[in-house]
Amino acid sequence: MPKLRLDRFLSNQTPLSRTEAIREIKRGNVTVDGVIQKQPSFCLETEKQTVMLSGKEITYKEHIYLVMNKPKGVVCAARDKLSKTVLDIIPEKYHRKDLSTVGRLDKDTTGLLILTDDGDFAHKCISPKKMVPKKYIVTLDNSITDDDIAAFSDGITLADGTNCMPATLKRLNDRQAEVTIFEGKYHQIKRMFGVRNLGVNALRRVSIGLLNLPEKLPLGEVIEVNFDELAEKTINFSQN
Ligand code: URA
Repeated sequence: MPKLRLDRFLSNQTPLSRTEAIREIKRGNVTVDGVIQKQPSFCLETEKQTVMLSGKEITYKEHIYLVMNKPKGVVCAARDKLSKTVLDIIPEKYHRKDLSTVGRLDKDTTGLLILTDDGDFAHKCISPKKMVPKKYIVTLDNSITDDDIAAFSDGITLADGTNCMPATLKRLNDRQAEVTIFEGKYHQIKRMFGVRNLGVNALRRVSIGLLNLPEKLPLGEVIEVNFDELAEKTINFSQN
């Protein structure tokens, strides 16, 4: 049965810092099984006891996993002086210490984004060793040629000399293509097309492994997903 100090439980499961959690406990704003508990060091049985903070129940989850349909104009960062961040637009109930994005999408990129406070999962999901495919729909300022498709498949060398792993490029229509990459270098897709003298007008991520952007998820909204299902579709998914 997992046990945790009450102050640590609150700072893990809510956006409160440890100091703020201690303050809330000492003020009498926290109950355990209906009784006010003023001891920050109180040893809590996380799966058995009910904790309420200012009348709201705090349910225990070791980690949280969210899927967002990222809109344009928000950045993948913990905070930003100029722009809204993806953390600013998720509902308060999902806020947690250490919550961050699994990889990054540019400010003007839309689509599938995973957020979690599980660093181990995030690391596996973005590691090129795991070869988790990330699929994007890209709108270009010109049509792709068979040479572009061959160059992507051979592996593009970026303008600064960085070699990319082979990628899959498919023509969808005159200006749109589907591109699949297995790594996540900085501005990778825009830079790959840049090498081919193609400008990217719009970029949307539609899948990571077998996890598709949920069709009905509106831009800017998130859903909570279950770890086992997420892992099966991403880090445990093998194409072989
Ligand atoms: N590649 C890019 O250039 N931008 C993104 O947001 C994602 C991949």
